[in-house]
Amino acid sequence: MPEAKSASRYRPETRLVHSGTLRSQFAETSEALFLTQGYVYDTAEQCEARFKGDDPGFIYSRYSNPTVAMFEQRMAALEGAETARALATGMAAVTTAMLAPLKAGDHVVAAKALFGSCRYVVEDLLPRYGIESTLVDGLDLDQWRKAMRPNTKTCFIESPTNPTLDVLDIGGIAEIAHQAGARLIVDNVFATPIWQSPLALGADVVVYSATKHIDGQGRTLGGVILSSNNFVQDHLQTFIRQTGPSISPFNAWVLLKGLETLGVRVRQQTESAAAIAEALASHPKVSRLIYPGRADHPQAALVKKQMRAGSTLIGFEVEGGKAAAFRCLNALKIARISNNLGDAKSLVTHPATTTHQRLAPEVRAGLGIGESFIRYSVGLEHKDDLIEDLVAALEKV
Ligand SMILES: Cc1ncc(COP(=O)(O)O)c(C=O)c1O
Repeated sequence: MPEAKSASRYRPETRLVHSGTLRSQFAETSEALFLTQGYVYDTAEQCEARFKGDDPGFIYSRYSNPTVAMFEQRMAALEGAETARALATGMAAVTTAMLAPLKAGDHVVAAKALFGSCRYVVEDLLPRYGIESTLVDGLDLDQWRKAMRPNTKTCFIESPTNPTLDVLDIGGIAEIAHQAGARLIVDNVFATPIWQSPLALGADVVVYSATKHIDGQGRTLGGVILSSNNFVQDHLQTFIRQTGPSISPFNAWVLLKGLETLGVRVRQQTESAAAIAEALASHPKVSRLIYPGRADHPQAALVKKQMRAGSTLIGFEVEGGKAAAFRCLNALKIARISNNLGDAKSLVTHPATTTHQRLAPEVRAGLGIGESFIRYSVGLEHKDDLIEDLVAALEKV
């Protein structure tokens, strides 16, 4: 089997290009795509030893695959995690990280401000299996303290949150979780591994929808869980093997190649996002602007403390409710209406009628997701074109 070369001693840009590469006997430059379900053995004895765990190597691609392993090792090196498991989607990663270690009688505490499907897992799915959950205002550490119970096993947050870009105190919440004997899982999709490292801030597990910035070109779905070896051994390994949320090697290959340009893309998209946020801040039709890179962000001090830069996403409200927001979306010529984010193409979303439509209107209002709230995911187009496009669309509001 080809040998893995770890580049984890290098800086992130170098790790994004080299870490985890498994070069085959053909010494290819670009990582090989091992599009295979299974593997063959020289002898029945070798096969027996492989299944027993005495002979290292691949058994079946539901368990592991060389291309998937390259993606996992590169992600782990980037994140500073002991290990990573890649899965078919971001939701497979969230659901597996939440469900696999828990059993009936356990308790989960999560921030209220979650992506709609993540909130479904916490609020609806887990309780069906006897796992109680409590939702708190993620910004209020006292609410976290009060929600902890002797049977609390997992705390779960996103930061920045989808879509209102609140920034939660990862270190503070991790401390409260650990004092109660619970683990903290952080969905780091909005921050990206380029701008935030939750494990270094005290989190125990990090999850990603790789569908977002990691692919970043709208091609594949994917998810990743990053954690200690123990968490994988004790909780994930058997669950993933036996229930099969595994990623296709083809998708893992696309994501592996996506990592090579992740740093360049996220830096450029963040720089453009800051310029667009600046243009929106003084626009008369914009009634509210949220951008984590700005001094007027409600948690600006925390952003400085725990993130290396702002975000590729902007949230804003226009005067005039849903009709005005729709007029703005419909008038955009470059940014396209979509529910995805982190893409090379700028994408705009109306969360109240899409990603968060499942929530009752009063719950949405409590989360700050008004009828005129727009989420703007900044792409790789020229920032001046994007600003001109937005300013022209705002004329229609
Ligand atoms: C914060 C967050 N977590 C998880 C997901 C789920 O990812 P996927 O669509 O890859 O399942 C998404 C987006 O869809 C998201 O925005």
